[in-house]
Amino acid sequence: MALTGLLCAVLALAAVQIVNAVPQHNKRFACADGHITSNEVCCQLFPLVDQLQSDLFDGGECGEEAHESLRLTFHDAIGFSPTKGGGGADGSIIVFSDIETAFHANGGIDDIVDAQKQFMASHNVTINPGDFIQLAGAVGVSNCPGAPRLEFLFGRPPPAAASPDLLIPEPFDTIDTILARFSDAGFNASEVVALLGSHTVAAADTIDTTIPGTPFDSTPGLFDTQVFIEVQMRGILFPGTGGNQGEVESPVPGEIRLQSDSEVNFPTINSRTACDWQSFANNQAGFQTAFRAAMQKMAIIGHDRNSLVDCSDVIPVPNPLPATAGPHLLPDTIQGDIEQACATAPFPVLAALPGPATSVAPV
Ligand code: HEM
Ligand SMILES: *[C@@H]1O[C@H](CO)[C@@H](O)[C@H](O)[C@H]1NC(C)=O
Ligand SMILES: *[C@@H]1O[C@H](CO)[C@@H](O)[C@H](O)[C@H]1NC(C)=O
Repeated sequence: MALTGLLCAVLALAAVQIVNAVPQHNKRFACADGHITSNEVCCQLFPLVDQLQSDLFDGGECGEEAHESLRLTFHDAIGFSPTKGGGGADGSIIVFSDIETAFHANGGIDDIVDAQKQFMASHNVTINPGDFIQLAGAVGVSNCPGAPRLEFLFGRPPPAAASPDLLIPEPFDTIDTILARFSDAGFNASEVVALLGSHTVAAADTIDTTIPGTPFDSTPGLFDTQVFIEVQMRGILFPGTGGNQGEVESPVPGEIRLQSDSEVNFPTINSRTACDWQSFANNQAGFQTAFRAAMQKMAIIGHDRNSLVDCSDVIPVPNPLPATAGPHLLPDTIQGDIEQACATAPFPVLAALPGPATSVAPV
């Protein structure tokens, strides 16, 4: 009996050692500057990350450049279709910016394309633009408290050509069009909902040009779940002018709502996504996990995972949400202001922040 137990223990230990010997990420390499990483080629990225923080992200903020850099990861990567072409996350939006920034869906993206191009030139950045865009996005989002630490894989080749037009979803697209486009690029409805959670750290400049910097939720500096709550609150007003393409009414002054975000959780239009959307309303950890997994896929569209090197350990570890944050209704609103959309589970019961109704400040 005892001998069998010992034998089992020895075999189990041997199995653990064999498993441990395989994955690359267990390797430890000391860079000349003292950083520890899984692969020597990642060493060059640590100083670049520091420069990104100081010179692009205003010293490590979850501000406009971080938000725009996250949006850019998507607009570069989604330029891929098995039938229509495009190289995915290849940096084509930077290299062929004259062509791609002119696409209608890329409205407002020229600012961050120019800023990243300028940064690459002035900092002698020698990594390829496809890598640079995904690195900047992962570093930028790490500045947002509550964000997951994203994976960063390194080694994308330079882009071969510009992406074709009409591959990037528009806020006035129907939900069917949006889900079909994502499906063509390899994403199911659950993954789309997780990716749209990025609008938790986001604002719009071009939807209503009279109110640039109008956020999609009341906490655009936090990677929290408020976007899932606030997009599901009854819309009562337009924060600026009405009648803009791709915009529907929002629940509070100073906040803007995309038609596409609202359709994703509107039951009669789409039962496929409403329950996923609702499930994140009070599930920060679930949102982090799903977002990280979906971004992991999005960041390497057009590439073979095995051709890239895992340099995730260059990405800063994000701060958790502050203790004062947490899922809530907006001040002076009630549970009944939530428009139930999921047919199979009730929206979680949340308390409103204390105080009178307030408007949301621009970013
Ligand atoms: C159906 C899909 C999507 C549509 C229709 C959509 C649409 C938009 C629109 C219209 C804006 C405002 C742009 C402006 O006027 O300045 C925006 C902003 C943004 N989007 Fe999306 N988006 C989608 C998916 C995504 C995904 C998958 C991500 C990232 C993973 C993303 C990240 C962002 C971010 C971070 C911003 C804020 C940029 C800033 O604050 O400057 N979006 N999106
Ligand atoms: C730019 O970087 C490359 C490779 O890191 C280096 O060989 C070159 O000397 C640098 N050029 C300047 C102007 O710093
Ligand atoms: C969507 O894809 C993810 C990742 O492959 C998977 O875990 C999930 O179950 C899928 N969801 C649906 C609804 O098919």
